Amino acid sequence: MAVADPPVPELTARANACADRLRAADRVLLASHIDADGLTSGAIASTALERAGIDHEVVFEKQLDAESIAGIAAREFDVVLFTDFGSGQLDSIAEHEDRGDFVPVIADHHQPGDRDTEFHLNPLLEGINGASELSGAGASYVLARALEGPDGDNRDLAALAVVGAVGDMQDSDGGLVGANEAIVADGVDAGVIEAQTDLDLYGRQTRPLPKLLEYASDVKIPGVSNDEAGAIAFLTDLDVDVKRDGEWRRWVDLDGEERQILASGLMRRAVASGVPADRIEALVGTSYTLVDEEPGTELRDVSEFSTLLNATARYERADVGLAVCLGDRGDALAEARRLLRNHRKNLSEGLQWVKNEGVTEEENLQWFDAGSRIRETIVGIVAGMALGSPALDRSKPVIAFAEESAEELKVSSRGSHALVRQGLDLSAVMREASQAVGGDGGGHDVAAGATIADRERDAFVAEADRLVGEQLS
Ligand code: C5P
Ligand code: C5P
Ligand code: C5P
Ligand code: ZN
Repeated sequence: MAVADPPVPELTARANACADRLRAADRVLLASHIDADGLTSGAIASTALERAGIDHEVVFEKQLDAESIAGIAAREFDVVLFTDFGSGQLDSIAEHEDRGDFVPVIADHHQPGDRDTEFHLNPLLEGINGASELSGAGASYVLARALEGPDGDNRDLAALAVVGAVGDMQDSDGGLVGANEAIVADGVDAGVIEAQTDLDLYGRQTRPLPKLLEYASDVKIPGVSNDEAGAIAFLTDLDVDVKRDGEWRRWVDLDGEERQILASGLMRRAVASGVPADRIEALVGTSYTLVDEEPGTELRDVSEFSTLLNATARYERADVGLAVCLGDRGDALAEARRLLRNHRKNLSEGLQWVKNEGVTEEENLQWFDAGSRIRETIVGIVAGMALGSPALDRSKPVIAFAEESAEELKVSSRGSHALVRQGLDLSAVMREASQAVGGDGGGHDVAAGATIADRERDAFVAEADRLVGEQLS
């Protein structure tokens, strides 16, 4: 039997029911979402099914809607396992279930719709926050633990679960909390993860030091952030060998003492330039390292790993991301790195475009329409990065539009934890405002999305503005 206690006791009964149903299936179709959390969810579930000897196939979908669910139903599998989506689309799924097309098993963390189903593993059904305490990969991990056989445990999969949680930005308050923390503990026990307090900048493994500081956008330090010459001058003034053999070193190349000198120099600079205390605190957070991965690679740091995965799946190459998750360190990793360069370029051009064009202010929100300038699969990431930058007003949520097809617009919205504490629920806003104009949407309180007809954009903005106003009043 399992060697360790289940990671999230509140979900054990649901996980066991799902696991039993999967074991009883002839063949399972595993369907997952095309982002970092969805890929890691798929990889975790697929590995667990394989270890349990359950025959299955894996497919990825950009969005689960009536059409893609019908496509899944047409595949004639008796059981379909949905990971990182499904809860928000239970109405459509249940129609197929009622017709006997397939039995759904769901491991998700999105806001459930009105209908329910028998095999449904979702933290929100047990009072656990699905935006900050457990991701799709986390729910899949809980399921994987329930699928364990007598020959070994699945705690090694905690590494991918943490990549998924961080990919969904569940660590945005400086580290993982709640059920996610229990998964980290499993990974630490299993010897696959190391958690430590560290400088909280993106790119600790792969970015040369000047780029690490220059591109750090979450906490803006005057004269260093967005300032190449300033970042270089800051580094050269430190009592640390910031170069070796003429090459800039990376954070991962520094020893403990050197890191300490750099971090405290950065804090002193921030204090001296009047950065507020709570922003300075945000310079430090918990970093999660995958100890089996090679130092200095994207895979070693969960945050960089998740970006690498987004760079594949959001560009119709989920197969590449899945292969990397399943351990391919040859061709798939090389291809993922190529895609990553393209993704980075698109993110930075997209962010620059938003900064140049600016946003339109409504009473309770701000919005921009990128048309075809930003790919609809990454417009949400750009919106989140824009909201984190000084270019946008943090006290209002942002709504972003991008062309999805000739007549359809993709909508992405992002808020902050502070706004959520004041009552903001973007999942409800996206669902209600899109349904009011004949579209559909959903997601999480802090980040949600929708698809609408392009001619309905202004009516949608007006309705969303009204709903946000109601929530925050
Ligand atoms: O499909 P879904 O769950 O994967 O996506 C979650 C999205 O919410 C991610 O794109 C993530 O960046 C965003 N998010 C955010 N801020 C948070 C939590 C999630 O922007 N605090
Ligand atoms: O791409 P992903 O959703 O994983 O990005 C998560 C966060 O990582 C972004 O919001 C951004 O702050 C940071 N990031 C970055 N530079 C990149 C990619 C991501 O700073 N090239
Ligand atoms: O696409 P984007 O990153 O903006 O999505 C934010 C969140 O909203 C994700 O969790 C996504 O799954 C969800 N979403 C949804 N229905 C849509 C679009 C997005 O539930 N039509
Ligand atoms: Zn997710």
